[in-house]
Amino acid sequence: MTERLINIKYHEYTSLEELEEKDRELAKAAIEAMKGSYAPYSHFNVGAAVRLSNGLIVKGANQENAAFPSGLCAERTAMFSAGASYPDKAMVSIAIAGGVMGRLAKAPATPCGACRQVMAQYQLKGGKPMSVIMIGDGQIWKFDKVDDILPLIFDSI
Ligand code: THU
Repeated sequence: MTERLINIKYHEYTSLEELEEKDRELAKAAIEAMKGSYAPYSHFNVGAAVRLSNGLIVKGANQENAAFPSGLCAERTAMFSAGASYPDKAMVSIAIAGGVMGRLAKAPATPCGACRQVMAQYQLKGGKPMSVIMIGDGQIWKFDKVDDILPLIFDSI
């Protein structure tokens, strides 16, 4: 038996100002996107912003439904919109912001497992690393590629 360790590198920032220009713009778009959240059940508002290889930003927000599984997370709303509208453009970065009653939470918004799997698929489709930026109030994490938040990605079919 060999015990192995997976190391994950990420960058931590304490304010939006510390981010490089493009990431700051994307982070602000994700925070702005929280306004589109429709969360009458959880009251947890999530905004996401995807940057495409041509520089365009596509936003999304969580959309809830009385039949709970019919709703969708912000990240997938943004990625599916980007994938449907710009099928030939790689998604090079995604930023996520969340909080209760429209106020950005202190802890960075960490995407659910299903959204990570969808990120992995679009990263594969685009053929470029997709960075993931998780935004909190005073704490921001940046991962350079989806593999870093979803080690051992399933892509065997
Ligand atoms: N949510 C997201 O939009 N993204 C995530 O990665 C986790 C959860 C939404 C779904 C639901 O509308 C609310 O947050 C509470 O789970």
